[in-house]
Amino acid sequence: MAQQARQFGYLSGAAFTHGPVEELAQELAATLPGDLDKLYFLSSGSEAVEAALKLARQYWVERGRPEKHEIIALAPAYHGNTLLALSASAREQYRTPFREWLVDVHRLPAPYPYRCPCGGRDADCPACSGAVLEQAIARIGASRVAAFIAEPVGGSSTGGSTPRPEYFRRVREICDRYQVLFIADEILCGAGRTGTWWAIEPYGAVPDIMTLGKGISGGYAALSAVAAPERIIDVIADGSGSFLHAQTFSHHPVACAAGLAAVRYLKRHGLVERCAALVPRAARFAEAFTEAAQQAGLVVWPNVGHADGTNGDLVMIAPPFVVTEPEIDEIVRRLAEALEMTLQRGQLSASRTVIEA
Ligand SMILES: Cc1ncc(COP(=O)(O)O)c(C=O)c1O
Repeated sequence: MAQQARQFGYLSGAAFTHGPVEELAQELAATLPGDLDKLYFLSSGSEAVEAALKLARQYWVERGRPEKHEIIALAPAYHGNTLLALSASAREQYRTPFREWLVDVHRLPAPYPYRCPCGGRDADCPACSGAVLEQAIARIGASRVAAFIAEPVGGSSTGGSTPRPEYFRRVREICDRYQVLFIADEILCGAGRTGTWWAIEPYGAVPDIMTLGKGISGGYAALSAVAAPERIIDVIADGSGSFLHAQTFSHHPVACAAGLAAVRYLKRHGLVERCAALVPRAARFAEAFTEAAQQAGLVVWPNVGHADGTNGDLVMIAPPFVVTEPEIDEIVRRLAEALEMTLQRGQLSASRTVIEA
């Protein structure tokens, strides 16, 4: 960043390109799924969401479909705090004072197994399967829907919850069938945090537009981005000629230099792969915890494979219906004791060995 600031600290993104922005776009494009290889850099995640939704809207206008302006989003969900991003966010406490200034966004129940009555186990559950999206498009009218926006892995609203494996393939099919743009908001869950470069990857679906932020600069500079494919950009390039979203500090050279350094560091040190390896099945945490729980006088039921078929440990507690409140307190105390014992025994050292190997 210092090196870049000494060379030049600012160039107008509307008039010029420069090395850091081109190189960063290339580095990120190499990691992005499918045909997402055009990037537009901004500062905050909220700005990226605003720009992504505006890009979707301008795309439809320039394709001669101005009636396509409705946005569909999930609840719970968070997409930012500027007015259009806040409109897409189901965060009532942030929205209430500004209600009159927000645009109406159609809201669908998120695929959120923890709170869904089906617990994420019912392949036919309308929310968890994505069927609600098709119903909403039918209700609003496909000719009026511009975009569906969702976080591939729930962020601050759903605490890292993951939809069923087939969810985003279904979303992709529905969006294709009804000509609705699918925007994946990877501002929180992306840039390697899930052990893949992008959280959508394991779902085998490619969004039309993606928003990136937070981790792409490692936190050293305010940097976010919108990624889109040529087939979307070309409609605008061949139409009016420019995306109507200029901002003074878009494509900022020093911020892009920070992003370039961060992304290259992640690649050079294999940190995304490291994320994937950090809690492997090899640690046998569920088994170790079950043994410790028994020593603490608590019977739990271990189960594994819930993250990807192999990794992902859980244990269940199944008290009888006649359990008393003091007994529940005792169960919680023993659970905490068992967790403490498991951690003290260094059960996770096996995962360290795997990583070093
Ligand atoms: C999924 C998601 N989208 C958008 C945003 C907004 O990003 P920012 O806070 O950088 O404006 C956030 C912030 O937490 C987020 O989690």
